[in-house]
Amino acid sequence: MAPRYLIETAGCQMNVHDSERMAGLLEQAGYESTPDAGDADILVVNTCSIRERAEDKLYTRLGELRVMEEEAGSRPIVVVAGCVAQQEGAALFKNTNGHVIDVVLGTQQVKMLPALAIQASRLSAVPSVAIDPWDDVSFPLGVARRSDPVRAYVTIIEGCNDHCAFCVVPHTRGAERMRLPQDILDEVREAVDSGRKEIHLLGQIVNHYQSREDPSYDFSRLLEAVNAIPGVARIRFASPHPRHTGSRLIAAIRDLEAVCKHVHLPVQSGSTAVLKAMRRRHSREDYLRLVDNLRQAIPNVTLSTDMIVGFPGETEDDFNETLSLTREVRFSSMFSFKYSIRPHTTAARDLRDSVEEEEKTTRIVELQALQRDIQNHLHEDMVGATVEVLIDAVSRRRRTELSGRTSGNTVVNFPGREDRIGEFAQVNVKRAGPYSVWGEAHDELVE
Ligand code: SAH
Ligand code: F3S
Repeated sequence: MAPRYLIETAGCQMNVHDSERMAGLLEQAGYESTPDAGDADILVVNTCSIRERAEDKLYTRLGELRVMEEEAGSRPIVVVAGCVAQQEGAALFKNTNGHVIDVVLGTQQVKMLPALAIQASRLSAVPSVAIDPWDDVSFPLGVARRSDPVRAYVTIIEGCNDHCAFCVVPHTRGAERMRLPQDILDEVREAVDSGRKEIHLLGQIVNHYQSREDPSYDFSRLLEAVNAIPGVARIRFASPHPRHTGSRLIAAIRDLEAVCKHVHLPVQSGSTAVLKAMRRRHSREDYLRLVDNLRQAIPNVTLSTDMIVGFPGETEDDFNETLSLTREVRFSSMFSFKYSIRPHTTAARDLRDSVEEEEKTTRIVELQALQRDIQNHLHEDMVGATVEVLIDAVSRRRRTELSGRTSGNTVVNFPGREDRIGEFAQVNVKRAGPYSVWGEAHDELVE
């Protein structure tokens, strides 16, 4: 019988895509997937360390695996991959008494997984660590086993050089490395050939993209090239940085047909003083000006964002500026986080985590209530309209319903058959909630 693998993924789309690569590599090496850890020969825990709570999940999981081993008398080979692996390296064995980890696999060593897994399965194996930084950003075409039938994640840039004061990513993902346009476009073609309709271009600062061979080949040109590939119905990208969002890029988003009219534009705070302490290199005013430019050029564009509350030194007034910016922009969605200290960051080194935990909670609750209210209103405004939806899944709540997204990234649920996944539908919106809208597809109404 073929050996079995299970990959458990935490964190961002970059991690989801790394898991797709690991799955492809393991299958190439003869492994088959299983949904059950008890049945797996190898378990990869692909970790996130962006916030303390994300990192804690690894230790909880390792505790569960220890219990599993005690109860069942056996356990799979355990590979800890991703950002915690890169951040902690061999120290992970010490933190966990060396019991439940066989391989520590850093973010830039994904390709080593099959070899290390085979090595770890030998009886005399000793735990191994592979966390060397690797400059090679190429990955063999066609190996990744894409987990989504409709969207394909395509990395354009690995790593980040920006060093925002709170952020561990430059440490866990390394320095910024650009892939060549040809490699990116080949991967997009391959994704389309295998039936994917929506391409998600990934990078820490996607709009910093520049070809290594031709400096005039920038992110706007890459969007043009992806847009020109037959079969690419939609293009999304995450995340651009406000600093590099100029008129050329705004025009590209406006003019290129496949590019979704939605921009996820992390702001992090509404206070210029806090933004400065965060080393974000944009002010509140810069951001609001950019929002204006985007909305003037593309009146129907939706904007979402990331926000941090309780950054060191954030006063009540600073937080009120975050609330007022949120009210002013009316984001279509927001990922909001309580600040937590991350190792190897300048904030950890230079700043005291000065806002009490309780105060951070009060602030995030208030921010999230405001944001929920805004989303409710924005969704109410959609009631009665007909929207175009790319169907991407069966609804999580009701198996008889489908779920998809508009170009503006609103989640739309409506009754429909599963075999329509991957198709477009025209949906008449009937009801609105804070996180999605509900409607009926025109063509499904025809008897
Ligand atoms: N440039 C990346 C950022 C990835 S991190 C991108 O947007 O593609 C995702 C988000 O996590 C950040 O935008 C930030 O809002 C949040 N975050 C990062 N470090 C954090 C920390 N130490 N505490 C709380 N939130 C944090
Ligand atoms: Fe992190 Fe700032 Fe780069 S949020 S990924 S250091 S742009």
